[in-house]
Amino acid sequence: MSKIEKISVIGGGTMGNGIAHVFAVSGFNVTLVETSSELAEKALATIDNNLSRMVKKEKITKGEKSETLKRIFTATDLSVGVKNADLVIEAIPENFDLKKKVFAIIDDNAPDHAILASNTSSISITKLAECTKRPEQFIGMHFFNPVPVMKLVEVINGLKTDGEITQQILDLSEKLGKVAVPANDSPGFVSNRVLMPMINEAIFCVHEGVARPEDIDSIMTLGMAHPMGPLRLADFIGLDVCLDILEVLYEGFKDPKYRPCPLLVKMVDAGKLGNKTGEGFFSY
Ligand code: NAI
Repeated sequence: MSKIEKISVIGGGTMGNGIAHVFAVSGFNVTLVETSSELAEKALATIDNNLSRMVKKEKITKGEKSETLKRIFTATDLSVGVKNADLVIEAIPENFDLKKKVFAIIDDNAPDHAILASNTSSISITKLAECTKRPEQFIGMHFFNPVPVMKLVEVINGLKTDGEITQQILDLSEKLGKVAVPANDSPGFVSNRVLMPMINEAIFCVHEGVARPEDIDSIMTLGMAHPMGPLRLADFIGLDVCLDILEVLYEGFKDPKYRPCPLLVKMVDAGKLGNKTGEGFFSY
């Protein structure tokens, strides 16, 4: 088993810049691959900002911040960006065809020993692994938003993932100061399979006039000690993302219990997607 020292992160959006941040701050060299130098710069600026916040909170020193930034390189050519990687983590948009194309390039250009990982929140790891010639070295590393803050990494084994690779990724995640929890590939993994039906049920309660959104959230925060109610959380995740994941569960299990609430579908159709559009179940 070769050591994991050099990481390539593909995609520097919401998740990718956070993933690059946590690896670099833990001492790893990171190559962040984006589609243009403008987007790569934007990702770096976000990381810079988030590191400054850590300095302010006295979690790292100014010196550690500048050392961290020195460990992050950027690339816009994917084939170049993965050529020295021990581990490649893909964090591009949630679209199977796009990920399939990108993994073909990664597979052709990353060293033979490199482990390939996806941060997908709902696409089958087994299916993505089969887009490469190394399904035994393919795994899910499901980080949570915001990555520098959230402790969990859900580590997803595809059907062919080698047990030693899983152990390496579990150990590596702990080195990032995360808590790594393994799960086997299945629609929605564990996190979204448990979370999304709760969010969907909360939306059905609004749909059927059982209670107002703020009251549903109060019941769940005060009665169940959830730090955030399901509707505010849905707004934060993005209602379009919630709908996509529910469709994956519905299709994956062919079970009506995952049927997306018609109100959710209507809100997505109307462009009310939550925080990112300024309106969802609440206004922002
Ligand atoms: P995003 O849209 O914020 O970022 C995706 C980035 O990938 C964009 O900056 C885009 O320019 C870049 N990109 C697109 N094609 C590329 C290519 N060929 N090469 C390099 N970069 C490319 O998306 P986000 O939210 O960061 O999601 C990424 C993945 O993480 C998705 O699979 C999503 O399901 C998953 N995820 C998202 C979470 C969230 O809360 N946003 C939570 C957990 C997982």
